[in-house]
Order: sequence, then structure tokens, then C-alpha cells
Amino acid sequence: MPPPESRHPHFVKNPRALYDFKGRPCAITAVGSYVPERILTNADLERMVETSDEWIVSRTGIRERHVAAPDEATSDLAAKAALRAMERAGITGDQIDLIIVATVTPDMPFPSTACLVQEKIGARRAAAFDIEAACSGFIYALEIGQQFIQSRTYETVLVIGAEKLSSVTDWTDRNTCVLFGDGAGAAILQSRPDSHGLLTAYMGADGSKGSVLCVPAGGSRQPSSAETVQQRLHFIRMDGKETFKNAVQAMQGAALEVLRRCELDISEITCVIPHQANRRIIDAVGERLGIRADQLYVNVDRYGNTSAASVAIALDEAVASGRIVRGNLVLLMVFGAGFTWASAIIEW
Ligand SMILES: CC(C)(COP(=O)(O)OP(=O)(O)OC[C@H]1O[C@@H](n2cnc3c(N)ncnc32)[C@H](O)[C@@H]1OP(=O)(O)O)[C@@H](O)C(=O)NCCC(=O)NCCS
Repeated sequence: MPPPESRHPHFVKNPRALYDFKGRPCAITAVGSYVPERILTNADLERMVETSDEWIVSRTGIRERHVAAPDEATSDLAAKAALRAMERAGITGDQIDLIIVATVTPDMPFPSTACLVQEKIGARRAAAFDIEAACSGFIYALEIGQQFIQSRTYETVLVIGAEKLSSVTDWTDRNTCVLFGDGAGAAILQSRPDSHGLLTAYMGADGSKGSVLCVPAGGSRQPSSAETVQQRLHFIRMDGKETFKNAVQAMQGAALEVLRRCELDISEITCVIPHQANRRIIDAVGERLGIRADQLYVNVDRYGNTSAASVAIALDEAVASGRIVRGNLVLLMVFGAGFTWASAIIEW
């Protein structure tokens, strides 16, 4: 059955409007990001494991990644990214109603990293919680956050993707240690009357593939013990080939779904920001979707895979460099452990 005709011609491109939309649109009014100072190059990794710059670049496109200092935790990176976004939005901490942090590397099991960020940025009024959808976390958090704007529950929501993946990286395992990096990206969600904002977002998951990419111990299944430490079960375990194949399929499917909902052709998107895990995954998805090189934003060469922070950092860079300006259509697509995947189309 075709959807009912929009009662809101102003939202003609907003699919949420097509189904008796009674909310209000949600825009990203500012973004910010932060990566730690220390850079770990492929040459540095050559001294740590049996690998080569040539192998890493040809298989992944990664040349360097940022690594947090020992006394720098995920909430520190998150707070710095948040403060940058807040400054650009012209808001102070007490204007924030809700903080959502997407991360797989919280400072500790509890309290949530979002609560630690709340304290650091002086957002005393804000509710705060974490979500965990691995590398898909930022779009999951965006979709959760926008519900509160759309429903008029809150005026200002702070969404952050932040990771200190170096804390769960096995620096003796060349299969994984070359892939990951640390960083954080933040977005301020508000309703902006002259913008359609987040047109639609789509989220998916396949829990049957949980063991393909995981940190096996440290939770209630295998609590930390001398044995789990000895067996290196607190580090990332991954079947690279299986992950690669699923990532390409899932991101392609997720992108097609949001394009279909918005009745948009890929050629109408100004900037496509895929999860920055591997240049070859990005190129494979790009080829399948018919994305032109000038539409793609890629920074995996400089940061590696920063999981939930990945598209958030790229979005900040793309906006700061003028690759995205008001009115442009932006497509985000992500894939991560779980497996999880998600996509979003935003009118900037
Ligand atoms: C990990 C990944 C780069 C490996 O690339 P690949 O093309 O599948 O690797 P290949 O099968 O060609 O090569 C594997 C070989 O390279 C070796 N190898 C692995 N890492 C290496 C490294 N850093 N340096 C040198 N050799 C390496 C392996 O030991 C293996 O050797 P073997 O064949 O003798 O056993 C790729 O599978 C990948 O990117 N997967 C997805 C990872 C990802 O994105 N994860 C996060 C998703 S959110």
C-alpha cells in the first residue's frame, strides 16, 4: 500500500513525514572531534610485529593511527570532542538535556562513560547513558537521540562516538593490531526550523555472527581472571575475511534502504561517509553502489578504524573542510561487531 500523502509539504523529502509525521525534524547543528596527539605509523608497527608498510597499505589503506596516552581514557577523548562541538553550536553544558555515548571501550564497566563526560563538560542537567553497537554505534546513537528531539522531549542532545581501541588491541597480533586507532567525534542534535535534518536512519543486526568479531572475556560470561589474562582473551578477536565480506554486503544493503526511503538516487548525494575500517571495503561498497570518487570521504589512511568514532570524526572533517555545506545531502553507512550495521541520510 502506498504511504499516505504528506500533510506537511515542507517535509516533502522527509520520509518520517509520509507516515502521519507529528514530530519535528532533527538537525545536526554542530560537530566536533578529537584524536590523541601520539601517532603510530606503519613503520612503528614494523618494529613491533612481523609486518610491512607495503602489506598494511595494500590490504587496508591505513598509513597511521592515533593512540591515546596511558592516562587518557575514552571519556577524556569524548569530552574534548564534545567541547569542540558545543563551542561551534554556541551552547554551554547546562543547555544539554541528554548525552549518549556510543563506545565499546568505556572507561570502566560502570558508571557509564556518558556520566563521566557529563561531569567533564559541566552538563549538570543532562541525562546520560552509553549504548553499545560497536562500529555502528554513532548512527545507532544518532537515531536514538533524534527521537527525543522529534518527540519534543528534549531541545538539545549530545551524541558522541568515542573509543580507546588501543586498550583492547593485542599489540602482538599482526592480524588485528595494524587496523585500529583511538579518537572521538561528537554531534549536537537540535531542531532547526529551516532544515529537514536527519531524513531517515536505518539500523540492523545479526547476532548469529557475534563470535566473528569480539572481545571474549571481561564480561559476565568470562569474568576477568588470571587465566583470561594469560590467554589474551581481553583483546579483539576477529575473522578478517568473514568480517570483510559481511561489511561490504551490509553497508551496501543499508545504503540502498535509506536511499529507497528517501526516493533518492546515489548521484544526488553530495558526500558519502562510510565506516572507515579498510580502504578495500570502502572501495568495494563504492563500486557496488556506483559512488563517484568525488562523493566519497575517506580518512582511514590517517586514523585506522576508530569504531564508534569513525564516521563522526570523518563527518567533522568533511564539514570543517567545506566538503559538506548547508543544504547538501549526506549519506552515512556503518558496519561493526554484533554484527550490526546502520545508515542515515541527512540534509545538512
Ligand atoms: C584483516 C584484513 C586486512 C586481511 O586482509 P586479507 O586480504 O583478508 O588477508 P589475506 O588473506 O590476503 O592475507 C592473510 C595473510 O596475511 C597475513 N597477515 C595478516 N596480517 C598481517 C600483517 N599485518 N602484516 C603482514 N601479514 C599479515 C596473515 O598471517 C595471512 O598469512 P597466511 O596466509 O600465511 O596465513 C582483511 O580481512 C580485513 O580488513 N577484514 C575486515 C577487518 C575489519 O574491517 N574489521 C572491523 C570491522 S568493523
